[in-house]
Amino acid sequence: MKILAIDTSCDDTCIALLEAKDSYFKILSNIVSSQVKLHAKYGGVYPFLAKREHQKNLPFVFKKALRQAQGKQFDLIGVTAGPGLEPCLWQGINFAQDLSEKFKIPIVPVNHIEAHILANFIDGFTKSIKSIKFPAVCLIVSGGHTQLILMKGIGDYKILGETRDDAAGECFDKVARILGLGYPGGPAIAANVAKYKIQNTRYKIQLPRPMIHQKNYDFSFSGLKTAVLYKVRSEKYNKAAMCAEVQQAIIDVLIYKTLKAAKDFRVKSIILGGGVAANNELRKQFKNKFDIIVPPEEFCTDNGAMIGVTAYFHRLKKTKEIKAEANLKI
Ligand code: KG4
Ligand code: ZN
Repeated sequence: MKILAIDTSCDDTCIALLEAKDSYFKILSNIVSSQVKLHAKYGGVYPFLAKREHQKNLPFVFKKALRQAQGKQFDLIGVTAGPGLEPCLWQGINFAQDLSEKFKIPIVPVNHIEAHILANFIDGFTKSIKSIKFPAVCLIVSGGHTQLILMKGIGDYKILGETRDDAAGECFDKVARILGLGYPGGPAIAANVAKYKIQNTRYKIQLPRPMIHQKNYDFSFSGLKTAVLYKVRSEKYNKAAMCAEVQQAIIDVLIYKTLKAAKDFRVKSIILGGGVAANNELRKQFKNKFDIIVPPEEFCTDNGAMIGVTAYFHRLKKTKEIKAEANLKI
């Protein structure tokens, strides 16, 4: 079965074509048209600007995806219904519905958070779904979400905890803006940390680890951003040292809480997903403590392939009318 998959939930226009057989996948094309340059000017994503770009990009990205896959045929369309920026979601949904009508191909709505989890099951680069042991705890860390989810199998999820304010990626982005490092903040901060390692540690800065010892699985990152803001306004600081401490504070909280959930629920696997899971230091420090399952970096950030995989697992849920749901829960 060939699947065309579309994601326009945030600022990337993503279309992929994959071939699925018995829960094994082959990516035929996976195009991500990034709007980073456009949004970098503003230090964040502007939904109506992003919507306009999706509208403009979708036909080109679609053609490119088909060209790269060397084929025009597909049997199923998967499209992100939520969560995400509502005006952006509608662009992908409308495009998918037009294709569905034109070619008489069924369409499946996809939950973007579930897709970040199932990005791990694209066969060929990690373990296949058949070899993953459940229950698992999933840490989904992106620009819009930070959630700990108990997963007993595909389609069986329970949110254990989530952020009460900013997401981890949002914290990276907001701190980068405060430090004048541009958007997206995560990669910019990580690059500055690399600089810090070769510098003198006398610049070391101390920041809080919000909620780390609370007896729940929730997070809070807005206080961390505020702590950076106070320091920047009130004292002399070294930028690379600030980046290193912010990154480490986020990593400490994410790892501590995930391992606590893993222990409390006696899980057999820990699964990571979402843009922040692309962070090398986070991956390294996690792997020092647990044999985690995490996609290659390019499949941590938004992409169409993960939407295709998710659509395949829910292929029986095809429908005609899809609605954008900005706050859709897993
Ligand atoms: O999953 P994603 O591509 O989009 C959403 O669904 O939100 O995640 C984007 C987020 C941004 O906040 C970005 O700063 C962060 O992921 N990010 C990173 C890294 N690469 C992307 N954060 C830390 N380190 C990275 N290497
Ligand atoms: Zn995402």
